[in-house]
Amino acid sequence: MSTPKSYVLIPAAGSGSRMGAELPKQYLPLLGKPMIHHTLSVFCIHPAISRVFVVLSPDDTGWERYDFSGLGDKVEVLRCGGATRAETVLNGLEAIAERAQADDWVLVHDAARPCLTQEMLDNLLVTVADYADGGLLAVPVADTLKREGSDGRVDHTEPRAGLWRAQTPQMFHYKLLRAALRASGTDGPTDEAQAVELLGYAPRLVVGDGHNLKVTYPEDLVIAELLLKNGNDK
Ligand code: CTP
Ligand code: MG
Repeated sequence: MSTPKSYVLIPAAGSGSRMGAELPKQYLPLLGKPMIHHTLSVFCIHPAISRVFVVLSPDDTGWERYDFSGLGDKVEVLRCGGATRAETVLNGLEAIAERAQADDWVLVHDAARPCLTQEMLDNLLVTVADYADGGLLAVPVADTLKREGSDGRVDHTEPRAGLWRAQTPQMFHYKLLRAALRASGTDGPTDEAQAVELLGYAPRLVVGDGHNLKVTYPEDLVIAELLLKNGNDK
């Protein structure tokens, strides 16, 4: 049996409604490049990654406006994004079925997380290689958590021990991830790990870094730019 390959799948078919910009957020400028250029470069540089699939909406008009040639030849665009993130990821997995082997690894990473570093990626690849159930980058919850009651008042304080914030990349064997997303339906899971958990598996939590933020609101763009300027750039 050949050594499993590691593929990356970038769901990039969202509209960025919370950002409120005219362009989908993956194309917003960050240090002179569209956000997704930063997101892709960390994987394109990494020697363990064979191919990087970007899943766009079928009616995306942004991608061809930019020059991605500096990223080399690992990037491949699939125009089969769906109505939800889970649907986009599943459609992407189905589209590469002819090429991916059951035990190849697939790393799913949000287009909107441009500050991932080589160190974070290395940590995930090395740690999860030993876990058949896969794994994900995540960060222990630091804030005190309040459960809302009525009238916007606190009902009680939730214990935060053992709680983590899930990030991406999330890394699973191709066959397991596709089976999990097929089984869970495209409306349900908000990340890949949840779909895999629902099949009874226990993905490994790998300590990530708060710098690997997801750009959701305009203020996140300012923070991402500062982080990239200060060394999170690849
Ligand atoms: N995504 C996708 N297909 C969808 C919805 C989201 O590929 N139907 C992708 C986004 O492009 C993004 C990632 O999933 O890279 C994380 O989603 P999110 O941060 O929610 O992005 P958007 O859905 O674009 O933003 P919003 O929810 O504010 O509209
Ligand atoms: Mg969304």
